[in-house]
Amino acid sequence: MIWAIPLPGLKQIISAIFNKNSNLNSRWEIEKYYGPFWMRSGSEILAWICETTIRKKGRGIQILLPAYFCGQSLRYLRSLDVKFLFYPSDINNISDKKFIQSIVKENEIDIFLLVHYFGIINVCTQRYIKTFCDANNILVIEDYAHFNHPNMNSQFLGNYVFFSPRKHYPIKNGAALYSLERMDNFIYEREKIPLLWYLKRIARRYCNYLLLSNKPAGRQNSAEVNLISFKEPSNFDYKMLAYYSGNIEHYQKLVYHNVYLLDKLISEPKIAARVGKVRVFNANITYLYPMIFHHTKDVEVFIKIFSKNKIPAIIWPDLPLEIVNVFAEYDKILDQVKKTIFIPVHHDINGEKLVKILRYCFDDKIQIA
Ligand SMILES: Cc1ncc(COP(=O)(O)O)c(C=O)c1O
Repeated sequence: MIWAIPLPGLKQIISAIFNKNSNLNSRWEIEKYYGPFWMRSGSEILAWICETTIRKKGRGIQILLPAYFCGQSLRYLRSLDVKFLFYPSDINNISDKKFIQSIVKENEIDIFLLVHYFGIINVCTQRYIKTFCDANNILVIEDYAHFNHPNMNSQFLGNYVFFSPRKHYPIKNGAALYSLERMDNFIYEREKIPLLWYLKRIARRYCNYLLLSNKPAGRQNSAEVNLISFKEPSNFDYKMLAYYSGNIEHYQKLVYHNVYLLDKLISEPKIAARVGKVRVFNANITYLYPMIFHHTKDVEVFIKIFSKNKIPAIIWPDLPLEIVNVFAEYDKILDQVKKTIFIPVHHDINGEKLVKILRYCFDDKIQIA
């Protein structure tokens, strides 16, 4: 079975409970930054930074976001006094500098969100944005939600940096925030242990029990507005994450291996004829692998074929409503979304098996639906 998300196993749960070396924070430190400060999710962290900035400035704020972003992650921000502005950006984070300069000239931007997508860091963009934002008195948030640990070869530059390990490991909640400034006003209320959440996933792993869907392809609701209450993850989430972080090299190797196998697969001539190569930088420690098809029509066909063959592929992101409905200049981004299918490559996936099924899907013998 190819799981959409990693599932907890009994061995890992028992190891996590009896793990003596469970100091999570020492494994998640970043040089020169305060933190990690743990919250439930990346979306919650974004809201926390905005709320703190609103409080400090004593007024509503404006945030400049990449148009290629997950609309659902803005659901808490929509309940705050935050105005969204968007800049064009693609999966390699090659942003339109002129567009950014002119939007900053015409608007008083308070925060710039820089996203490093799916294990790819565009160092030139990163440096340019930080220098440009410093000169214009804009705070930079660096979003590493698609990376499974801060131990990569990266120079962190943002005023704030965050990770979302809940996407990479079988834990319900857990996202890490870092700041260049002291954060004395951090709110600590701990979530209760999400027992039912863990039981459902254990059942899914061992009984293939249909309490939990294997996340079909599709979109979420990007117009959602949720009121925010800031919380820390439960004790059990901490313990599980400490276990996985303690064995990080092992789990990262598994992901690397899966990414390597997929890179090799899409280089095969029959597949390269349909899918382009995207991984230009140090493709490393993500959980979804982007397959960018040359033609939109292929995406419609292959999403059906993948689903028929039980590969929980997804279309991402559920673009913010503002992008889908209003801005004609984001055609390129809509086009990229329409051409991309994401394949899970997390550590809980057997890469060889995945590649075998994918090759079968691409095989001419398959009856195209
Ligand atoms: C790039 C990026 N940043 C932030 C988030 C939000 O993270 P979380 O799911 O932990 O709320 C997501 C969610 O998909 C994301 O893709």
